Amino acid sequence: MYKEKLRVQDLSEGMILFSDVCTQSGQLIMNSGTILSHYLIEKLNQYQIDSVFVEVPERPDHITSNPIKIGMEPTSYLERVKESQEFAEFHKVYFNHMKNFEMQLNDIVNSSSTSIDIDALLTTPITLVNSIDTTFGIFDLLLNIRHLDDSTYAHSLNVSIIANIVGKWLHLSERDLKVLTSCGLLHDIGKLLIPQEILQKPGKLTPEEFDLIKQHTTYGYALLKDKEIDPRIKASALLHHEKADGSGYPLGKKRENLPFFSQIITIVDTYEAMTANRVYREGLCPFKVIKLYEEEGFSKYNVQILMTFIEKLVQTYIGYTVRLNDGRIGKIVFINRLDLSHPIIESNSTFIDLAKERNLEIETLL
Ligand SMILES: [Fe+2]
Repeated sequence: MYKEKLRVQDLSEGMILFSDVCTQSGQLIMNSGTILSHYLIEKLNQYQIDSVFVEVPERPDHITSNPIKIGMEPTSYLERVKESQEFAEFHKVYFNHMKNFEMQLNDIVNSSSTSIDIDALLTTPITLVNSIDTTFGIFDLLLNIRHLDDSTYAHSLNVSIIANIVGKWLHLSERDLKVLTSCGLLHDIGKLLIPQEILQKPGKLTPEEFDLIKQHTTYGYALLKDKEIDPRIKASALLHHEKADGSGYPLGKKRENLPFFSQIITIVDTYEAMTANRVYREGLCPFKVIKLYEEEGFSKYNVQILMTFIEKLVQTYIGYTVRLNDGRIGKIVFINRLDLSHPIIESNSTFIDLAKERNLEIETLL
């Protein structure tokens, strides 16, 4: 490993310090081996440090006129998932089934028949759930899929798969599990009647466009209401954007008037959309997702379902390596049941309780 001296303004996230950094008065502020984050680079600026030594890969062309290229952001967790054999296999099965699933949904939209072959429809999510036996969590595989396919079909399929898992966590019967998985598959079917250019519009929506998108709930219900299917599937299409405090749409119903299954779909749908669109694009961190749920407030969701969901979700990350916002790297060893977004981290034989050290947080999974 070589070292190279870089000005602080030329540093970028992910670079690793080759030597300790001290202030002019000799106070140690960062250890060698620290991986630089945006926060830490800011800190160097605050301490008015001019330049530091960073690690440079051991290769003949290590001296370059473009120092930013040295010590680039290490491969992110999400990228590692994407490059794995497990993802390659999952991806193959997923897209093999996708065409058929698209046809099935379009048939429901276009056909006047009142019957829907739910068992045929369930083949895709059930096959996918059963195909997964990986070291990466299914949530991380699904997320990578969504980066490749932003369609309503992929979103619906992902929601149905996650709903199936959540249904098992809630100990639903086999029969109810099928209904819940179907609720996930068909909850957004009304979106197939909304013009693509509005759904995929990159910029801000006009109030009229937003109103139109909101109508996918009533459109979906209208498509399903005369079909011979479980009424909970129809209700989920209509009510999955309702919130327990009455702030949702289309009817502004409150928790006491919302069916249990549609409340499950609301949480799963929010999670899927939130992770696909926001958090994970900047580096996967389920703990940031949980924090977002905490910010949204338990007032908006069914608390029993939400607690089960985030508690189980967090547990799937025990043993994972993470980087904290002060640059330290450690392993998640224990989940605080009363503070799910702040687990205990073991780093260099020290236990860091994030519930107590409130200035620290998990920045990313490694
Ligand atoms: Fe929706």
